[in-house]
Amino acid sequence: MQAFLKGATVQSTRSQKDKGATGPSTEKKAKVVPWVEKYRPKCVDEVAFQEDVVAVLKKSLEGADLPNLLFYGPPGTGKTSTILAAARELYGPQLFRQRVLELNASDERGIQVIREKVKNFAQLTVAGTRTDGKPCPPFKIIILDEADSMTAPAQAALRRTMEKESRTTRFCLICNYVSRIIEPLTSRCSKFRFKPLANRIQEERLLEICEKENLKYTKESIEALVRVSEGDLRKAITYLQSAARLNNDKDVTECAVIEIAGIVPPKMINKLLQICFKGTFEKLEDAVRNLVDEGYAATQILSQLHESIIDGDINDKQKSVITEKMAVVDKCLSDGADEYLQMLSLCSVIMQQAFQNT
Ligand SMILES: Nc1ncnc2c1ncn2[C@@H]1O[C@H](COP(=O)(O)OP(=O)(O)OP(=O)(O)O)[C@@H](O)[C@H]1O
Ligand SMILES: [Mg+2]
Repeated sequence: MQAFLKGATVQSTRSQKDKGATGPSTEKKAKVVPWVEKYRPKCVDEVAFQEDVVAVLKKSLEGADLPNLLFYGPPGTGKTSTILAAARELYGPQLFRQRVLELNASDERGIQVIREKVKNFAQLTVAGTRTDGKPCPPFKIIILDEADSMTAPAQAALRRTMEKESRTTRFCLICNYVSRIIEPLTSRCSKFRFKPLANRIQEERLLEICEKENLKYTKESIEALVRVSEGDLRKAITYLQSAARLNNDKDVTECAVIEIAGIVPPKMINKLLQICFKGTFEKLEDAVRNLVDEGYAATQILSQLHESIIDGDINDKQKSVITEKMAVVDKCLSDGADEYLQMLSLCSVIMQQAFQNT
């Protein structure tokens, strides 16, 4: 049995994130660890806001069986952290390496890997006790992170493996877009949706970090962080760290947050809209050129324009025409179209609509 388990260590593939987290600490340079890693939940209880999944995992930590899991939801909401924390609690630090196989998008996950690596790992049988004598579940966990980037044939190859090895292995699939996981796989798993974190929870976490890092902050700066990160706690923490680095005395100001998040000052957006509504095409061209030359990302301008248009006082028909154009522009931008031309074409449509009085 021990030989079996040792064999498994060789196969366990560690994630890039893990390497990033443990690398610097082994060199005793704890300060170099990014805060997202430093404050990654160590146990399931530390995972904030995702009550459903935490409840299920806690039940299984108490000894109940674990179903196959499918976590989905937007980035930075705690999916990877939750399963890693649960696995650590289940197996303890020593057995963790042997019992958990983590594959993410940085590993090759074509059909060949599913056939060989996953299948071989799944077939190993394991004991129900830890090396320290404590009981632990008699199964292994295979984490397939970023599963939505797996090819359909690779996903299909998982179907039978998942069923056949259910006695010894549990799978945890993690993805952002659940629609990209094939139906037969979703039906084999308990699905858990990870919600974007509520503003209050994000605020609490950020304040906690500020305190631990001895940061000086203003209420407005934390509010700005929560606002720009839109429920993505990873983004909020990363911005917080950058904002703290920006000012040497560890001051976090609202200005710094806005600067780092690359938000276009609302004044500029308002000016652009005013030109669309009252100005001439030449002025519009200048204003758009100016915005793009300032280096603001077109997608950022787009999302801020979107907010203003939705709240603006034009009629519903005009709003619908403009937002439809926004969707097209968004697609073009993600396909790599020219930012200036796309912004100009969007603003032209806004102008056209503004000049229509119906
Ligand atoms: N619910 C949460 N509770 C506590 N911390 C969280 C939570 N969600 C995110 N975080 C913080 O954000 C960081 C990133 O979280 P994690 O890697 O789990 O996100 P993810 O959901 O896997 O995102 P992605 O879809 O991009 O892989 C963690 O290190 C942690 O600091
Ligand atoms: Mg993840």
